[in-house]
Amino acid sequence: DLSPQDRLKLAVAQAAIDYIKPKLEPDTIVGIGTGSTAAFFIDLLAPLKGLFDGTVASSEASAEQLKGHGISVYDLNAVDNVAVYVDGADETNAQLELIKGGGAALTREKIITAVADEFVCIADESKWVDTLGAFPLPVEVIPMARAHVARELVKLGGDPVYRDGVVTDNGNHILDVHGLHIHNPKSLERAINGIVGVVTNGLFADRPADVLLLGTENGVKTFT
Ligand code: A5P
Repeated sequence: DLSPQDRLKLAVAQAAIDYIKPKLEPDTIVGIGTGSTAAFFIDLLAPLKGLFDGTVASSEASAEQLKGHGISVYDLNAVDNVAVYVDGADETNAQLELIKGGGAALTREKIITAVADEFVCIADESKWVDTLGAFPLPVEVIPMARAHVARELVKLGGDPVYRDGVVTDNGNHILDVHGLHIHNPKSLERAINGIVGVVTNGLFADRPADVLLLGTENGVKTFT
C-alpha cells in the first residue's frame, strides 16, 4: 500500500514515461536519476526496454535496479548523446532551479544533466519552495579538504554539517549546508564550486530543469 506521497511520486514517474515514450528511438540513451521517485520511474520504464537502446545512471543503486530489469547501462564515456535525463529533486523553485543530492549522487547527476539534451525533473509537491535552502545544500568534497571547505562555507553564511559515514560513489564526503536562504542560486552555485576541494554542490541553477512534472493532489502539473 502506497503512502499519499508515494502515490504522487508514482504519478509523476508515470507522467515522465508518458512524456518520453513518443521520443524513444532504437538508438536512444535515457539518463536515469537517483532516489525514490527515480526508482518508481525505473520500474515503469522496464516494459519499454525494447523501444530504446539503453541508459546511463547517476548512481550504482540505480544501475543495479536497471540491470535487474535487464535494461542496458552504459558508461557515460561510451555514449555520444543522452536524449533525456529523468531525475527527482529535493527542492525546486518556480524557475526550475533545484537542490539535489539528498541521496549523495549529486556529482554524477550534474554530469549527466550537463550532457543531456533535455532534463525532466519529477517531484511531488512537498519539494516546491519559494526560496531554495530549507533543505540543507549538499556539497561533495575531496576528503582531505573537508575542514577547509567547511570554513569557507561558514564565510558564505552557511552552517555545514559533515554527513558522517557517507562515502559517495566517487569516494568523497558530503557536507550538508544548513541555514541558507538562497536568493541568487546561480551565483551561490558558482561561488561554492570555486572553493578548492569542492567537487560540486547540489544547486542545479546554471543548468536548471527544462521540464518539471510536479505531483499534486489535483494531478500532475507541468512547468517549463
Ligand atoms: C539524489 O542525490 C537526489 O538528488 C535525489 O534526486 C533526491 O534526493 C530526490 O529523492 P526522492 O525522489 O527520494 O525524494
